Amino acid sequence: MKFVVTAGPTREPIDPVRFLSNRSSGKMGYAIAEAALESDHDVVLISGPVNLAPPAGAKLVKVITSDDMHDAVHEEVRACDVLVMCAAVADYKPARVAKAKIKKGDEIFSLDLIPARDILKSLPRFRNFFVVGFAAETNDVEEHARAKLATKNCDMIVANDLSDPTIGMESDENAVTIFSRNGEIEKISRASKKIIAHALVKIICAKAKKVLTKNF
Ligand code: CTP
Repeated sequence: MKFVVTAGPTREPIDPVRFLSNRSSGKMGYAIAEAALESDHDVVLISGPVNLAPPAGAKLVKVITSDDMHDAVHEEVRACDVLVMCAAVADYKPARVAKAKIKKGDEIFSLDLIPARDILKSLPRFRNFFVVGFAAETNDVEEHARAKLATKNCDMIVANDLSDPTIGMESDENAVTIFSRNGEIEKISRASKKIIAHALVKIICAKAKKVLTKNF
């Protein structure tokens, strides 16, 4: 199968030397890309700025902003079977990017932010590729994950519970719950991101084969 995997954070520029971003390390997305390659799938890895070596054998598309990632995803999904949106894409970006460095002052300073484009929501409603979203939640994981499955029109949502600071973002370990469009729920208990990634690729392929009207 042809996988497109997104990973890492995005950076939303404020001025030439500053940006808004988040703590995503890219480890989960890179592990999924590696696991898919090890299972003999083709992989395009669309990556925000991270400190990780790209997996050998993947086509690497480097992006910085949420707009770059949006455009790269739309380009690459044209020839894919599975999209895994593991990236921590910005929800907001500065309304204006200052051309020169913003100088400091003594007053309270505020930035106007506008919503960034939601990449999952921007995908065509009817398509012939399987879409896996992620949900990073600190509370009411099941409720939020199910809501994202519906509003983002995903085939599957992989939920991370961020209330445990020893797993998930930045960590080498994770534990996830998978919510599928058909109502099925599967849990992968705490393990290295490498092990979780292999389990996820297996589950994704099995479900994608059932849903897609293609021969593999
Ligand atoms: N996502 C996206 N485009 C965005 C933001 C997020 O496609 N601009 C995708 C992520 O890659 C992930 C899913 O949406 O697969 C859920 O991301 P998450 O950060 O959990 O949720 P948000 O949509 O950002 O909502 P909230 O922050 O309110 O939980």
